[in-house]
Amino acid sequence: MKLKDKVAIITGATSGIGKAIADRFASEGAHVVVNYRPKPGNSEKASQQIASYSTRALAFEADVSERASIEKMVAAAVSEFGRLDIVVNNAGIEIERPFLEVSDEEWHKVMALNFYGPFVLSQAGARQMVSQGGGGKIINISSVHEDIPFPNYTPYCASKGGIRMLMRNLAVELARYKISVNNIAPGAIATPINQQVLEDPQKTANALEEIPWGRFGRPEEVASVAAFLASDEAEYVTGSTYYIDGGLTQQVTKY
Ligand code: BGC
Repeated sequence: MKLKDKVAIITGATSGIGKAIADRFASEGAHVVVNYRPKPGNSEKASQQIASYSTRALAFEADVSERASIEKMVAAAVSEFGRLDIVVNNAGIEIERPFLEVSDEEWHKVMALNFYGPFVLSQAGARQMVSQGGGGKIINISSVHEDIPFPNYTPYCASKGGIRMLMRNLAVELARYKISVNNIAPGAIATPINQQVLEDPQKTANALEEIPWGRFGRPEEVASVAAFLASDEAEYVTGSTYYIDGGLTQQVTKY
């Protein structure tokens, strides 16, 4: 077991990549705080999820675009398990809209959840880790779009580009406390965020044309890299982005 008795907070942990990470961490022996957003049915879903774990876990409702909710969640993790070792900033949204039509409201909504939230949780989490005497892991689930453009998704790409520099800066600043900071940049993974594409054969075919590996990724494939980065084996790994994209970022000029 890679993560025996470690305490981890994972945001957006009841679906897609976040759920796969929470499941994997629990199976590796971690105590997981399964964060879910306020939405009817989510509380029951999260409770069922943690009931299936063999380690003690906590389901926690929090809007992770707000400081007060995030700080409450960190406090709850510490009061329940006595410490905090791992933070996974996973929750995120995307809105498809041509740049010329993007509203302020849309911009702020995406930025609040995808960029401000990870800033606050990384800060609150790192403060706790430092107060415990140091040591810890911060992992951001960014996207291949922390690096490559995605037309009609400007706020999303800007938030992910921001997360790239947040990670690199924190990796340098927090190294003295032995807190490592890394990003995982998934490509097209079969999760609810890609539901529309997966349900449309033409869109699926277009997406597959851009993926040398010839298929969508699975959430579990992202979770296995997260488990490595969260483990002691990754002791010397900090300040990097790990692409899990079937080669998507290796753009080929086709003309
Ligand atoms: C986006 C997906 C997209 C994938 C590859 C992800 O970050 O959330 O919508 O399919 O990147 O472009």
